[in-house]
Amino acid sequence: MTPAPLQDRPAWRALEAHVETIGQRHLRQLFEQDPERGRRLRAQAAGIYLDYSKNRITDETLKLLLQLARESNVAERRDAMFRGEHINVSEDRAVLHVALRMPRESSLVVDGVDVIGEVHAVLDRMADVATRVRSGQWRGFTGRSIKNVVNIGIGGSDLGPVMAYEALRFYSQRDLTFRFVSNVDSDDFVEAVRDLDADETLFIISSKTFTTVETLTNAHSARAWLLERLGDDAAVAKHFVAVSTNAEQVAAFGIDTANMFGFWDWVGGRYSMTSAIGLSTMLAIGPDAYAELLSGFHEMDEHFRLAPLEENLPVLMGLLGVWNRNFLGCTTVGVMPYDQYLKRLPAYLQQLTMESNGKHVTLEGVTVDYQTGPVYWGEPGTNGQHSFYQLIHQGTSIIPVDIIGFARSLNPLGDHHDILSANVFAQAEALAFGKTADEVRRDAGPERVIAHRVMEGNRPTNVLLAEVLTPKLLGSLIALYEHVVFTQGAIWGIDSFDQWGVELGKALASAIVPELTDVAPVLGHDSSTNALIEHYRKLNGRGS
Ligand code: F6P
Repeated sequence: MTPAPLQDRPAWRALEAHVETIGQRHLRQLFEQDPERGRRLRAQAAGIYLDYSKNRITDETLKLLLQLARESNVAERRDAMFRGEHINVSEDRAVLHVALRMPRESSLVVDGVDVIGEVHAVLDRMADVATRVRSGQWRGFTGRSIKNVVNIGIGGSDLGPVMAYEALRFYSQRDLTFRFVSNVDSDDFVEAVRDLDADETLFIISSKTFTTVETLTNAHSARAWLLERLGDDAAVAKHFVAVSTNAEQVAAFGIDTANMFGFWDWVGGRYSMTSAIGLSTMLAIGPDAYAELLSGFHEMDEHFRLAPLEENLPVLMGLLGVWNRNFLGCTTVGVMPYDQYLKRLPAYLQQLTMESNGKHVTLEGVTVDYQTGPVYWGEPGTNGQHSFYQLIHQGTSIIPVDIIGFARSLNPLGDHHDILSANVFAQAEALAFGKTADEVRRDAGPERVIAHRVMEGNRPTNVLLAEVLTPKLLGSLIALYEHVVFTQGAIWGIDSFDQWGVELGKALASAIVPELTDVAPVLGHDSSTNALIEHYRKLNGRGS
């Protein structure tokens, strides 16, 4: 049964009334009233411990949020996803990234085809290439083995690979160099290849559609760079592989489709890091560790599919996000991994969350009358603490923060890790409880600065704690966020799997490209755009 419009659902109405009473209650009070709160409001799955007690909620809030999930058919929609129904309505597609990490012996029929066999056939081909490259068996055109891998892609064809490479660098084969080129800005490509030998370099052209201008422009430059150095078209076959759903365009580019790794239209770009888009990851960490990564994803997928809503990590985090966004009015979410290897996680999550839930109409195409996806951003701790945390602690906006920490370092060194981890706990504590004027007064210091030193607290955090960063754990962590996005999209009733909002800019840019080089076309834009183009041409000596 289709749920009622969001704001008409009984749970939504109850939450609106509830926020009036609970919204302003301070976390200090909530913890004082319930000494066990920190031990009650927590959940665990797939090696991830979630402490959500430092959110501005009571048991009643939680009860109403879970009721909202039920009234919003979150579980039904989740099950429809796992059944392969076309829940991406605007593109009329199934949404089945979860199939990419299902075990070989499982089965999942999508549009009449059991896709698991196909998924594992691609994984096997990837493993074959990864093994040959890693062992030095894959020879380049001049007979040298591959030492450098350059992934060319953008959006989901870049952010997952680069994030995973950085996250799992500890597990990577260190005599291979990995570079990632995404920006059409030539600086990106030129700097990525400037110290590489062409005869030791393998390019992976990663593009779901194989029509993305940025990627194809970089891919053409890569081919020109290679041919300039190796001087023979036959070199392309030894130095280029493609990852795409579009065999025709791959062949048109000149890459042998024998060197192409396919995936399917039911894998969205930002959900594709466990498709063949993960080839660079597998090259870096090897097929066995890659299988562990997939098993971590699958474990969280299964948790999301099977765990009761009240114990379900993605559902809980998703609901808390809805509470913060729609009832407490928070416009952004900070994600702060206290692990240097996760430095690209916030960038990855930006696409995952914002391209998915930055939507203004419902599945039925009706303009929403409530807020949808917030802005996600972040930096690794503790760097952020010496930069923007000031605003999170004392600014006028409430910014919920996900703090991600690990019990053990992959590179134990003196007391570094305990110092790092102390900051995980201290930041969550400071954000929640702050410092009152009386507490400040107890410290020495002039009265006139008391107000400046008061920290209001009552700032929500989720603390995610795991033992150590492994490929498996990374998989579970990413799947957790994928399903958080899903849960929120289901509540907001939006299509989390399309991305029409990126199209207009693309179309306008392709219309403008010839106007930049042609000296005298009639410019038909608004006066601002016309003047900017004219000035650009002038600066380039191309006439006014
Ligand atoms: O930005 C739009 C988008 O379609 C993303 O969703 C996608 O990840 C990216 O472009 C790259 O697309 P492709 O893999 O087809 O080159």
